[in-house]
Amino acid sequence: MYGGPRVPSVTPMTDRTSSPSAAQAVNSRNALVTGASRGLGLALSRALAAAGWRVVMTARGDEELQKSAAELGPAATAVAGDVTDPAHRTRLAHAVEDLGGLDLLVNNASGLGPTPLPRLADYPLDALTDLFAANVVAPLALIQQTLPALRARRGAVINISSDAAVEAYEGWGGYGATKAALDQISNVLAAEEPDVAVWWVDPGEMNTRMLAAAVGPAEASGAPSPDTVVPTLLRLIEERPPSGRLVHR
Ligand SMILES: NC(=O)c1ccc[n+]([C@@H]2O[C@H](COP(=O)([O-])OP(=O)(O)OC[C@H]3O[C@@H](n4cnc5c(N)ncnc54)[C@H](OP(=O)(O)O)[C@@H]3O)[C@@H](O)[C@H]2O)c1
Repeated sequence: MYGGPRVPSVTPMTDRTSSPSAAQAVNSRNALVTGASRGLGLALSRALAAAGWRVVMTARGDEELQKSAAELGPAATAVAGDVTDPAHRTRLAHAVEDLGGLDLLVNNASGLGPTPLPRLADYPLDALTDLFAANVVAPLALIQQTLPALRARRGAVINISSDAAVEAYEGWGGYGATKAALDQISNVLAAEEPDVAVWWVDPGEMNTRMLAAAVGPAEASGAPSPDTVVPTLLRLIEERPPSGRLVHR
């Protein structure tokens, strides 16, 4: 876990009681968070909005996304769609342009793959290809599309990883392989982009729909709330330690 001092409180930079003017949007800190309709993505989006950030939120399910974005008020822009769809990624890039710049990209959206989790001996290869598209190719594509904006504002990328990237859990080989690939993309990106901070974060187990789909709702309910991971992510953003892999525990 990143063990720096607590994040100082941040004065909101936008008036959240009214729609932002173009000038407010340019002067605010702006984030793009994928998988923002629930779980860790929503918890982080809420915290960013509370700290004065403007947040472009995306997920496939429009109804759930709109409901979650409405909670954040005018700080949020909801753009529903699938991150594996190039046309949707272009819409996201335009939403970021409309804000006037980007300070933070959070690649949090992720697939789990087939359930029950198949052993590698039986892993359906089409499903594995789809999983790499969602968990590896789409995050890299979003990085490519937003890098000029991130470089311009010395911004940051957070890629959400997993302990399955480094541990040998039976059944988690497909998902874990995508997270290991995302880790290495992050690692090389950090070396190639000195003006952009890159952190890849294992958030630990969280009680979310994804974990419930993997281990069942009863076992998932014993895991911590995704809210418990948010202070670790906020400390990264506020204190900007060197790029690297972090484990939240
Ligand atoms: N929960 C855990 O114990 C755990 C442990 C280690 C790592 N993680 C990682 O933590 C991150 C957040 O997961 P979570 O547990 O918060 O899961 P979650 O509650 O199921 O949320 C996943 C979010 O991603 C969205 N999403 C999924 N596929 C998408 C796609 N192709 N395009 C756009 N949005 C998509 C979902 O909305 P739609 O379905 O509507 O698209 C939802 O908003 C993931 O990267 C996951 O791998 C989780």
